[in-house]
Amino acid sequence: MKTSLLYISLVISILFGKVIAHEGMWIPLFLGELNEAKMKEMGLQLSAEDIYSINQSSLKDAIVIFGRGCTGEIVSDEGLLLTNHHCGFGAIQSHSSIEHNYLKDGFWAMNKEEELPNPGLTATFLVEMREVTKDALLDIDDNMSEKERTEQLKVNLEKLKLDNAMDNGIKVVIKPFFSGNRYFMFFYEVYKDIRLVGAPPSNIGKFGGDTDNWMWPRHTGDFSVFRIYANKDNKPAEYAEDNVPYKPKTHLKISLQGVEEGDFTFVYGYPGRTQEYLVSDAVKTITEVENPIKIKCRSIRLDIMKAAQNADPQVRIQYAKKVASIANGWKKWQGENKGIKRMDALNNKVVLENEMREWLQENKEMEKKYGHILDDYKKTYKDLETWKIQYQYYREAGMGIEIVKFASYFQPLINELNKEEVDEAEVTKQKEKLQARMISFYKDYYEPIDHEISARLLSEYYIGVNEEQLPDEYLFIHKKFKHDFKKYTEYLFKKTIFTHEKEMEDLLNSSSKTLVKKISKDPTYKMAVSLNKKLKEIKAAAGDLSQGLAVLDRKYMQMQMDFQPTKTFYPDANFTLRVSFGKVDGYAPRDAVKYVHYTTLSGIMEKENPEIYDYVVETPLKELYKKKDYGQYASKDGHMNVCFTASNHTTGGNSGSPVFNAKGELIGLNFDRNWEGTMSDIAYDPDQCRNITLDIRYCLFIIDKFAGASHLLDEMTLVK
Ligand code: ARG
Ligand code: GLU
Repeated sequence: MKTSLLYISLVISILFGKVIAHEGMWIPLFLGELNEAKMKEMGLQLSAEDIYSINQSSLKDAIVIFGRGCTGEIVSDEGLLLTNHHCGFGAIQSHSSIEHNYLKDGFWAMNKEEELPNPGLTATFLVEMREVTKDALLDIDDNMSEKERTEQLKVNLEKLKLDNAMDNGIKVVIKPFFSGNRYFMFFYEVYKDIRLVGAPPSNIGKFGGDTDNWMWPRHTGDFSVFRIYANKDNKPAEYAEDNVPYKPKTHLKISLQGVEEGDFTFVYGYPGRTQEYLVSDAVKTITEVENPIKIKCRSIRLDIMKAAQNADPQVRIQYAKKVASIANGWKKWQGENKGIKRMDALNNKVVLENEMREWLQENKEMEKKYGHILDDYKKTYKDLETWKIQYQYYREAGMGIEIVKFASYFQPLINELNKEEVDEAEVTKQKEKLQARMISFYKDYYEPIDHEISARLLSEYYIGVNEEQLPDEYLFIHKKFKHDFKKYTEYLFKKTIFTHEKEMEDLLNSSSKTLVKKISKDPTYKMAVSLNKKLKEIKAAAGDLSQGLAVLDRKYMQMQMDFQPTKTFYPDANFTLRVSFGKVDGYAPRDAVKYVHYTTLSGIMEKENPEIYDYVVETPLKELYKKKDYGQYASKDGHMNVCFTASNHTTGGNSGSPVFNAKGELIGLNFDRNWEGTMSDIAYDPDQCRNITLDIRYCLFIIDKFAGASHLLDEMTLVK
């Protein structure tokens, strides 16, 4: 039995070896050792050193973490940076109002003086990465208890950080890889003066909106342009008017050649999180327990938010970013569940686990080391289920109510003020934090939306968990309102002071006694406190179980590696710099349907619908289309290409990542995956999983021909 299974997997990997190789997010440090040969065979014309090097400037020096969750790349020797529109969205929105609606109309700085600062926004360069497994796991062995191990690990990591600390502002970060079997250290330089240079109107940058999100064929011009500023020594500095454009070690060359099916490509960026090595019980919990709760709660919020947006243009701006981010996860989880089902991923895991069980039976030494793991997993996931359900309701229903989440930020302040000995410095710190939070909260808050949502979510929470698992505040709702959540929320929104900006400001400046008294008896605050009490309970009860899981994950990773000793494993994404490589390719999503790998401007015209917000086409773009005025950005046969798909393994965080051709020239910006491939965070299907890239030629066409910002092109290095 075992031999035949092994034989089958061998045949499969020989037959499909070419395709299977596309899976993976590889560590740049080991490209030479693990991937270079394969990449060259597929078409790469660079060496691993050209991609990542600490001795000479390499492509890595042109890549940054943009903000906290995206990737960006440098395209001029004056610090010009490209990323996605949806990555720059917060910055663009923050400068937008009804009068200057840059979200709607776009924004273009026609000279450096017009570039707009964005407090809090950063661009982070990786200076160097090193493997530190040996030092991290020093004096740790298999005979230790987990507690001893954790303590020793902590000591080791602290020592490593201390020994490597630098006094020149370089940040040192250590991260676990392969579920804690290996450790890597990263040296980062964080630039803090990042200015907005340009953004297309949302009708281009977000064309297709949430309707087309996670889908192919796609026509989104998902890019925005920023510039990094530095002090006179080219070092990071807070915003200052006399900061100067950053001079990078290198910047990317941009190819106008376009792509053909089968071309080699690679993506270089910061994938956030994948879970490719999960046990089947985990996949079951995610797809059957957690995803459905999250999807259900978010459907409710989205329906109500979108209706309000349609009725009021002001609300459309206010809720643009909120809706986009709620909808993004909501849609992905649906695709993920479908993909897992279609691939039969759960069952495939079970088959693999059964093979492993057989292997353990035949191998005493391994049996001793790993024999307990699969059963322990089963038990742990079973015990965790009830807590996972409660946690999801806490997060997606309870904290899905904006005003309740906002009120919960007051808890640290009130707790401090209630102490016998109040720490005044702490109080000041908390008040300052709240002051800043209040400004951003009220700017984008629309009470009728939140009111309607709160009644619905509280009701979902009530239905979703057992009576004794409800937060305490439900006792009050029961007593006073007989679980009529409409009545309860009417009472809450009538009585609460949290919806009143001016009163809240005054309250924050009034005496501690008044502050504590008023906040403590506020119904919104009471709900927030009650929810957080529940969270504490959940964490306390699930804490040990989760810790147990982390240990199992570490051992199970090792077990899978021992079971498949000839397989080259890549570590799960953990928001560190990675290389994914593949080929430009379409795919066949269903019987009789085959998608080609690219879209064009004609597709935008096909989708045009002035009645539907997501499909409005800007008049000047239509003019350009009519005249076929594409200049040097046209494809060889005269079309304007917009997006393309390829088989690079990517995930959230890869947004804005540069997509390169075989020569290491920029051919596009990664911004999404296809619907049929969204399960690739858990299971990768080489037939279905595609990343979606904005063709760089469309991006340049919009900057040049649409926006008339050709001065930006003069800064770039174009390869014709
Ligand atoms: N799905 C892409 C990603 O995960 C794009 C998200 C932004 N776009 C949107 N329509 N919400 O980030
Ligand atoms: N849109 C995602 C991001 O913001 C990238 C798409 C994906 O998840 O692959 O990073």
